[in-house]
Amino acid sequence: PLPRPFERPLRLPPVLRPAHADATTDYYEITQRAADLDILGDVKTTAWTYGGTFPGPTIVSRSGRRTVVKHTNRLPRPVVVHLHGGHTPHDSDGYPGDEILPAGGKPTMAMGGHPMPGKPVIGSRDYTYPMNQRAATLWYHDHRMGFTGASVWRGLAGFHLVHDDEEERLPLPRGDRDLPLMITDRSFAADGSFSYPSIDRTLETVPGVHAAHMNGVLGDVILVNGVPWPVHPVQRLRYRLRLLNASNSRNYRLALDPPPPGGKGLVQIGSDGGLLSRPIAHDGIDAAPAERFDVVVDFARYRPGTRVRLVNQLGDGRTREVMAFDVSSSSKAPHEDSKVPAHLSRIPRLDPAKAVVTRTFLLQKKGGSWQINGREYEPGRPLARPRLGQLERWRFVTDLHHPIHLHLDAFQVIARGTRGLGAYDHGWKDTMDLRPAEAAEVAVRFTDYPGAFVFHCHNLEHEDMAMMADFTTE
Ligand code: C2O
Ligand code: CU
Repeated sequence: PLPRPFERPLRLPPVLRPAHADATTDYYEITQRAADLDILGDVKTTAWTYGGTFPGPTIVSRSGRRTVVKHTNRLPRPVVVHLHGGHTPHDSDGYPGDEILPAGGKPTMAMGGHPMPGKPVIGSRDYTYPMNQRAATLWYHDHRMGFTGASVWRGLAGFHLVHDDEEERLPLPRGDRDLPLMITDRSFAADGSFSYPSIDRTLETVPGVHAAHMNGVLGDVILVNGVPWPVHPVQRLRYRLRLLNASNSRNYRLALDPPPPGGKGLVQIGSDGGLLSRPIAHDGIDAAPAERFDVVVDFARYRPGTRVRLVNQLGDGRTREVMAFDVSSSSKAPHEDSKVPAHLSRIPRLDPAKAVVTRTFLLQKKGGSWQINGREYEPGRPLARPRLGQLERWRFVTDLHHPIHLHLDAFQVIARGTRGLGAYDHGWKDTMDLRPAEAAEVAVRFTDYPGAFVFHCHNLEHEDMAMMADFTTE
């Protein structure tokens, strides 16, 4: 029996404390291990976790202050950690061949049984993040070649927030009115275990999922921060919701139900790469896998005692519900100390007319795999060699929905087909949802770090089934 919506309280992932710190750096430690979690209430779910919780602990970094995370692998399979949205040197970016093997474990083979380029280590690895980047909602998750979908489904995902002075000077809601919300869908077997259609259920050798699930795996239970359809009490005040779609392949259109009088209840202040230049008010937000939307919701626009549901207008039945906020029934409005300034940040525009190179990538299914420019992922064989500091135009042409994600640097969306920017394309993005039969363009400038990086579809089943490529910066 599945839990019913809006019975369980929202949980916030624990904030990780540094093991130690010095003048320039905060040092964190995370042990990846199996843990029995209470997700469904009556039965336990064995998860793969960062430190025993799902989501993993939230890491909070200061822009400009180095963060080192030592990951120790006590899981039975190799792992790779990627900081999604991080401006990270190659060595710490979680390149698929740079695995952390369990004691006695063997590295994962590339397609065709070839050894992967990379530097596997045994036991633990230090990931060094310079954090020379602006305030933003980042997240970290597993990135093992061919098994990312299964590993993330089992629980390997967490928030990593970056703060900076610019953002802290703004009077945005903070403290317990700043809520990171990781939205995932999952399915469960009768014994409470996560159910996922891996070809190789031991996650040892054969990557990917059975052909029937090649388009993507969907779950019938919506979890927010690992809790099925939670409910959270709110005062009649503004709240900042850091919405992260961490689902393997589900697209959401998130909306408030009921909408506040006058509508436009979701006031977007940030996207993947941090603050927008100015707020944008939406009735609904389309969120593809890996996208983040920072929104402010003013619950003072509701009558006391209203239950406001966050719904997914693309879902049906139970997958239409996400979570609920119970607005305080006290008729006396508490003191409001926050607001949403009309000007949030300055975003320098990347002028596509100044791009030095235009590259085109065709994303499509071919036979039993998902391919980029007619090829399955081949680590070590880059599809592009961008020069550091050079402005480029990357054009994507698609068959179906593909949330395309670039490592190393955020980009700006220039156009979608002939329609110009979509409503959710503003600001700095690192993941963009390409819609069926669409051509879209982004402007990007890779900076600082030479080496091999990847770009890929963030529908994790597409990614695992080869829709990924290297680019090498030089
Ligand atoms: Cu969120 Cu290459 O990943
Ligand atoms: Cu895809």
